[in-house]
Amino acid sequence: MIRMTLDEIAAITGGRLVNADPAATVTGPVEYDTRALLPGGLFVAFAGEKVDGHDFAAAAVAAGAACVLGTRDTGQAGIVVDDPLAALAALARVVVSRLPELTIVGLTGSSGKTTTKDYIGQLLARLGETVAPAGSLNNELGFPYTVLKASTSTRFLVLEMGARGIGHIRYLTDIAGPRIGVVLNVGAAHLGEFGSVEGTAQAKGELIEALGEDGVAVLNADDPLVAAMAPRTSARVVPVGEAAQATVRAVDVTLDARGRAAYTLVTPAGSAPVRLAVTGRHQVGNTLAAAAVALEAGMAPAAVAAALGEVGVVSGRRMDVFDRADAVTVIDDSYNANPSSTAAALRALAAMGQGRRTTAVLGYMAELGEHEASGHQEVGRLAAELGVDRLIAVAGNAAAILDGAATVPAWKGEAVLAADQAEAVAVLRGDLQPGDVVLVKGSRYRTWEVADALRADAVTEEVGP
Ligand SMILES: Nc1ncnc2c1ncn2[C@@H]1O[C@H](COP(=O)(O)OP(=O)(O)OP(=O)(O)O)[C@@H](O)[C@H]1O
Ligand SMILES: [Mg+2]
Repeated sequence: MIRMTLDEIAAITGGRLVNADPAATVTGPVEYDTRALLPGGLFVAFAGEKVDGHDFAAAAVAAGAACVLGTRDTGQAGIVVDDPLAALAALARVVVSRLPELTIVGLTGSSGKTTTKDYIGQLLARLGETVAPAGSLNNELGFPYTVLKASTSTRFLVLEMGARGIGHIRYLTDIAGPRIGVVLNVGAAHLGEFGSVEGTAQAKGELIEALGEDGVAVLNADDPLVAAMAPRTSARVVPVGEAAQATVRAVDVTLDARGRAAYTLVTPAGSAPVRLAVTGRHQVGNTLAAAAVALEAGMAPAAVAAALGEVGVVSGRRMDVFDRADAVTVIDDSYNANPSSTAAALRALAAMGQGRRTTAVLGYMAELGEHEASGHQEVGRLAAELGVDRLIAVAGNAAAILDGAATVPAWKGEAVLAADQAEAVAVLRGDLQPGDVVLVKGSRYRTWEVADALRADAVTEEVGP
């Protein structure tokens, strides 16, 4: 964070100083986990249901925290506020107002925010100091937390924005209004909260409504619900995609045997060949969005194309492909799942599985609301249509996936319902063969344990006798 006195922080947050020297300064980052604290930092204590951050106040100060911001006096140098989240928002707003040279990039969408944020971060870092921390920091806590990482030397601040309802993105843009706003896609994510994809589109579009006339709205031209948002912004619109009307465009897209795309990046400033190192056809759209941001920031098309060839997975469990010593390839995409992202992952599995045996291990997809049964059936049907050789649904709540696969008469694959993650691992261990490609995907719900087991087996083989 930029340097501030405790007195200033108290004034900004409407808090009360306790046990503290008003002239003392915060020089380090704002953290809510003592393990991440650095000397001179500000420790924010949240009274959670399971853990009360105030109990860690002494540890935070021992670790070098200049001050503890929380809802009560902990006996340490502190600022007592009513609402730590509101305090973070207020602080973030002031930090942004004091960094007028900063270019703020905000992005939202149903799938691929974290992935694309990582790509944008890797591109912009080539132009100047960039804040785009790993992980999915997209809510009322993670967003101001990320903003507070900016300092006077930061040139680019890349912010992921999530929404579980109307007004959520507006709340975030009121804290830090982007100059460049990116909307990736509107799909079947968090449908339980939104009710419909139209509701989702309404909420995501708040990002571009918040852009000023000097702003830039990067909109996915291949997604009708995103393209239709254009009238909702006064900013200049840059359509990106494979559609003819896109101004930053991918043409001649091909996929290699590893499911990695290559394409020609076509921009108003010239064209250049791109060869991605990341897996999945859907990375074309993600990387085009990142390209549009980098072009707006002043990077030349050839430099963008070259840099895109080097972007990789920063935040774990997203299209993380690894080869085991026994020639089994694993696609760990187990961070989260919804029907759109599962479709993207299944297509990647199919692309990588040409001439190889494919297995999809799919867990429950959360937050689908009334679309729960149909969403699971839909991905099962797609898996069967893509000719996946073996479909393992993990746990009873994912069983509808197999029902969907069963509706494809031509499918000759094997359907397995594993009672839990351990059983899925046992099924795999009993039968994996060299050359197999295994996709692991689910909505948290611990499906990642399957990927971890496959990874651990691989390590054993690499270092074993
Ligand atoms: N453009 C895309 N279309 C469909 N799926 C995608 C796309 N980009 C990434 N994915 C997949 O979606 C899943 C979530 O990716 P990621 O974490 O980047 O998304 P997110 O939007 O940040 O999700 P969250 O809402 O959990 O923050 C991963 O499995 C990833 O491989
Ligand atoms: Mg995310």
